[in-house]
Amino acid sequence: MTFVFCYPRDYKEMHTLNFAVLYVISIFLLFFPNGFCHADTNMQAGFQCSASDYSVNQDTFQTNLRILLDSLASNVVEHHGFYQTIVGKKVNKVYGTVLCRGDISANNCSDCTLNSTKVASNDCPESKDVSIWFRWCFLRYSNESFFGHMQPTAVAITNDTDFDDPSVVSEGLPFMSGVAAEAPEKSFMFNTKVLDTNQSGKRYGMAQCTRDISRVDCRSCLDDQLINFRTVIGNKRRWEIYGSNCFMWYNDYQFYSNVSNLLSDAWRPSSCTRLMIGMIIAVSAALLIFF
Ligand SMILES: *[C@@H]1O[C@H](CO)[C@@H](O)[C@H](O)[C@H]1NC(C)=O
Ligand SMILES: *[C@@H]1O[C@H](CO)[C@@H](O)[C@H](O)[C@H]1NC(C)=O
Ligand SMILES: *[C@@H]1O[C@H](CO)[C@@H](O)[C@H](O)[C@H]1NC(C)=O
Ligand SMILES: *[C@@H]1O[C@H](CO)[C@@H](O)[C@H](O)[C@H]1NC(C)=O
Ligand SMILES: *[C@@H]1O[C@H](CO)[C@@H](O)[C@H](O)[C@H]1NC(C)=O
Ligand SMILES: *[C@@H]1O[C@H](CO)[C@@H](O)[C@H](O)[C@H]1NC(C)=O
Repeated sequence: MTFVFCYPRDYKEMHTLNFAVLYVISIFLLFFPNGFCHADTNMQAGFQCSASDYSVNQDTFQTNLRILLDSLASNVVEHHGFYQTIVGKKVNKVYGTVLCRGDISANNCSDCTLNSTKVASNDCPESKDVSIWFRWCFLRYSNESFFGHMQPTAVAITNDTDFDDPSVVSEGLPFMSGVAAEAPEKSFMFNTKVLDTNQSGKRYGMAQCTRDISRVDCRSCLDDQLINFRTVIGNKRRWEIYGSNCFMWYNDYQFYSNVSNLLSDAWRPSSCTRLMIGMIIAVSAALLIFF
């Protein structure tokens, strides 16, 4: 397994980035005991905490953070898997975002969000700027505003020796460029696509952006990831890229679900409930008419 950090190409930005925040990164190997397995399971993909700052423990900030994390977890599903909010004032203000992968179910989205808030509290208890990457969701909070700003930190996860068939290698990246090009135009900036290689089966691609950035920024975020990680992922059969504003997945089986209710009708009553409501209205109307 390889995990590679992608720093901004602009050195100045990288400098300020490292200056401001001390990055603590988890080791991905631990989370890939069997390499990539066939069932799509959730797992933690990494985390990043700013340097310890004891003022995090101060009551007001702590209270605001707790309210923020609860609010993210309880609102993310009804906002189609993406929610941002701000809690508190002045030095105790905290900004938070959560994004669920577009294909997962509403239940798994809210579970993943809850789990990521627990990881944040356990692993980064004294940090004010925290990012938690799971395969199915991404959580970030900070005492500084980051909504709508592109943050170039990203990590690629792949197996160093799991090369794809040479006949597919030349098709993989152009295929994923296509996935990247379409994603910003899709609703919720979430896209999946299948490549039929003829000789070597199918390849499945998926891309998603956080919805606080523009469509143009989404496109450039995805394109930058493909460019920056090209040598790492270009000849591999499976890979995943986790950024702060955009995400990409590539594999040789359909790892994503066709049937998520998250982006479609998570908030609508189910057809059974609708039928019941319809019956209640009909019965009430009948009662009104007859009595
Ligand atoms: C990486 O891929 C190679 C070749 O497919 C495989 O033999 C190896 O077990 C994989 N390693 C991990 C850690 O999954
Ligand atoms: C956020 O917290 C960091 C330290 O954790 C501090 O240096 C910075 O000034 C704070 N920013 C704001 C806007 O309060
Ligand atoms: C949630 O994820 C689990 C795997 O961890 C899966 O078996 C289950 O079907 C998912 N739930 C829904 C409602 O999709
Ligand atoms: C959340 O954590 C619980 C307990 O560790 C685990 O059973 C569950 O599968 C996790 N859910 C998701 C969606 O990651
Ligand atoms: C696979 O074959 C079809 C029909 O022969 C062709 O149109 C398509 O371009 C081929 N796909 C690739 C990726 O070579
Ligand atoms: C998803 O849908 C495609 C076509 O609509 C179908 O070929 C595929 O088998 C479905 N996959 C799953 C896991 O349901």
